This record gives sequence, structure tokens and C-alpha cells, in this order.
Amino acid sequence: MRIVSGIQSSGPLHLGNYYGAVRQFIDLQVQGEALYFVANLHALTSVRDGRLARELARETAVALVALGVDPSGAILFRQSDIPEILELYWILGTLVPLSHLERAHGYKDKITRGMRPDFGLFAYPVLMAADILLYGADVVPVGRDQIQHIEFARDWATTFNATYGPILKLPEARVQAATAVVPGIDGQKMSKSYDNTIDLFGHGAEIEKRIATIKTDSTPVDAPKPIESSPLYELLKLMLPEPDFREVDRTWREGGKGYGEYKKILLDGFHAAFDAARARHAELSRDPGEVERILAQGAARAREIAAPIIGRVREAVGL
Ligand code: ADP
Ligand code: TRP
Repeated sequence: MRIVSGIQSSGPLHLGNYYGAVRQFIDLQVQGEALYFVANLHALTSVRDGRLARELARETAVALVALGVDPSGAILFRQSDIPEILELYWILGTLVPLSHLERAHGYKDKITRGMRPDFGLFAYPVLMAADILLYGADVVPVGRDQIQHIEFARDWATTFNATYGPILKLPEARVQAATAVVPGIDGQKMSKSYDNTIDLFGHGAEIEKRIATIKTDSTPVDAPKPIESSPLYELLKLMLPEPDFREVDRTWREGGKGYGEYKKILLDGFHAAFDAARARHAELSRDPGEVERILAQGAARAREIAAPIIGRVREAVGL
């Protein structure tokens, strides 16, 4: 089984990225041949500062390794190190109906949030399809918001194959149902565009502050707490080990504990879950040469996998 996924280097990784995407990368990497990349070409749609873009690409790679992507097994690379992606992107683009791109949720959401409707944003799903089809992916682990993009990739691969012969493999999306949408501190979907994130590698004080400001209601300490639409409850459920959460769930339903206490439990839970990764992150950040070496090796392996596929594509379309 070949597993392919990417994560945009458009900002620091947060809990939503971890539980929605990265955790699946880590679970899946032992089940097949995994290719994971830092989608720094996609990130150019939102980061317009060269120095920052370069820094975020490296930072995202460091974060993935710190969290448990194992570069001795999984192939970890930077998207821009694979020129074949842009070649396939163009070739696929010649077959993509504009109507598909016009109904892309990702594009529409971004425009609604105030991003400029430029060509890069519009063409984003085509680049993403190239990312997936170039390596003959079987499975693509993603968050729920990305499913439509995987469906587009399947559609366009089908059109390509009908036009030129059976060359591209149809990928399948893999979404972890239990954690499909991680809430942010305000109760909306956690996203860097809503400024409601808890960043995995932020300063301790910042994390404490973010957790302290998680939205709660005015239920008195003694009363049972409502479960519906409580981001604090959801985050505790995600982050605590099962037996600890069972205890929280019991008192939550019975009453007797205030939200402040639960926030303290969540903060401890955060540190228990991520302090080891945070220590590895600090260590790797001091050694940029090591990360570059991992990425260079990953790119060489990824290009080897891509070579026969792009070769057949070139041949079929007449290049
Ligand atoms: P952001 O919304 O912060 O810009 P991205 O769009 O870069 O995050 O998401 C990167 C990956 O993390 C995607 O696979 C996405 O589905 C997943 N993801 C992001 N936020 C969440 C969330 N709140 N819940 C679940 N998955 C998420
Ligand atoms: N669009 C994805 C996101 O926002 C990142 C991404 C780029 C990706 N190319 C991909 C994910 C290919 C899976 C497969 O998170």
C-alpha cells in the first residue's frame, strides 16, 4: 500500500493539524510505503515573503519529525524539490473542467474568509491532484475538509486514463472519523485563519493563555456541565488517555468541578501528550543541517518513485 499526504507550510502546526492529519500519518507509516511532504508550493498561495516561506517549510518538516514521522521509514520531502509535480500539474490541468474548480469548497471558503481570488488559489486542487497521482497513491490520509480534493483527483485521473490509457492510479481518502473536526478555543473549527488555535510548539506561557481562554458557559461549579458544543469537553476527550477521560466525563456529568479545574487538567494533558515531541522539536531546530539532509534524501527517493509514472504520462500525451 502506498500512502501519500502533505501538509501546507503556511503557519505553525496546531492541535487540529495533529489530530486531523499528522496523527494518521504516523499511524499509517508502518502499514505501507509512506510519502509525506511539506506542501510549500501550496503555501505560496498565502505566504508572500520568501524568507518566511523558506523558514516555515523547514519548521513544518522539523515539526513532522518531532511528532513522530520517521524518516528512516517514511519518505519525507519538500514539495518544491520535485519538479515533476509541476509538469503533471500542467498536463492534468488541460483536462480539468472549470466547473469543478468553481465548486471547490476549499476555494469558496478561502474567498469567503477574505483571500484574494487569484489563479493559484483556484488551481490549488489541480496541484494537489498532481501531488497524489504522481506517486501512484493508494491511500491519502487527510482531514475532512480535504475529501472533495481527493475526489477531484480520482475524477481527473479517470478522465486522463479514458483519454490516454490506464496510467494513473485512483487514490482513496482516509479520514479518522473520531477526530474529523477539532474545535478551536472559540468553538469554531480550529484553524489558523480564525486565530483560535493551540499551537503544538508554542511557548508554554502562550499555550497556558490559550487554554485559559477556551470558551465556556456560565454553568455553576456544582451543576452538571453541558456536553453539546463545549470545545473544552471535546479537547479533553481528544487529548486525555482513555481512563483519565472517563473520570473527567463522570464529574462533568455529575457537577462539582468548575471549568477552571478542567482547564488545568487539559493543560496537564497537553504537556503529557506533547512534551516529548516539544523536546525533540527544540533539539532538531538547533540542527538545520540534519533536517536538510533528511529532506534531500526524501526528495531523491520520491523522485525515483515518480520517474516511471511521469515517464508513461509524457509518452502518452506526446511529450
Ligand atoms: P488551517 O485551517 O489551520 O489553515 P490547514 O488547512 O493547513 O489548517 O490544514 C492542514 C491539515 O490539517 C489538513 O489535512 C486539515 O484537514 C487538517 N486540519 C486542520 N484543521 C483541522 C481541524 N480543526 N480539525 C481537523 N483537521 C484539521
Ligand atoms: N491541501 C492540503 C491541506 O490543506 C495539503 C496538501 C497538498 C495535500 N497536497 C496534498 C494533502 C496532497 C494530501 C495530498 O492540508
